[in-house]
Amino acid sequence: MAKKSIHDRNWRQFYQVTAGRPPRPTLLRALAARTASRRPAGRRAIDLGCGTGRDALPLLAAGWHVLAIDPEPAALRKLEERTPRAWRPRLTTRLARVEATTLPAAELVNASFSLIFATSLPLLVDHLRCIHAALVPGGRFAGQLLGPRDSWVLAGQAVGADWRQLHHLLAGFELESLIMEETDAVTPKGEAKHWHIWHVNARKATLRSPSRRS
Ligand SMILES: C[S@@+](CC[C@H](N)C(=O)[O-])C[C@H]1O[C@@H](n2cnc3c(N)ncnc32)[C@H](O)[C@@H]1O
Repeated sequence: MAKKSIHDRNWRQFYQVTAGRPPRPTLLRALAARTASRRPAGRRAIDLGCGTGRDALPLLAAGWHVLAIDPEPAALRKLEERTPRAWRPRLTTRLARVEATTLPAAELVNASFSLIFATSLPLLVDHLRCIHAALVPGGRFAGQLLGPRDSWVLAGQAVGADWRQLHHLLAGFELESLIMEETDAVTPKGEAKHWHIWHVNARKATLRSPSRRS
């Protein structure tokens, strides 16, 4: 039987299996870092590839305004259903692919397991440039990228970055946390898979004013 493409867009099983799971640790780290450090004012977050709201809902609960973007109508429908009425004025949903939309200014861009579906290296570079451009200075990025030993990368279905390429992709960001995970597992869609993941927390560098000469 031919192996299914990771781009087959059949997300129903993933959404069912992951419904009710807790927020991603990368999102929690971004929120904790923001609390701990001097932070840019404002609470505008973009959740790219939001799915049914695993991270968007905790952001709304914490008082953020959230632009939730996903190309799957079923994901956005479920997210809207799951959002308590009192939080709805702070939620905007957008049916779009990251490559086909313009990101507004934000203090946080969260992309949990969504950039891994970029179909080429130039597209991934472009996604990260757009995220960087959308972030205010000091704003944060949280998300995952794949490493070269990931089975989707080895099968030519996804883009993997080694340590050096990762730093190139994250140019203009200061890394706050970088965790490499390598494990054999079964995906929520039921596929046996070798994961090689970079869990990334990064901050857009703040512009320093040039020091005055005396
Ligand atoms: C593995 S799920 C992750 C969902 C959610 N962020 C989470 O952590 O549970 C990937 C999501 O990314 C979305 N996605 C796939 N390709 C995308 C693209 N090009 N632009 C934006 N979202 C995309 C899918 O529709 C899906 O909802």
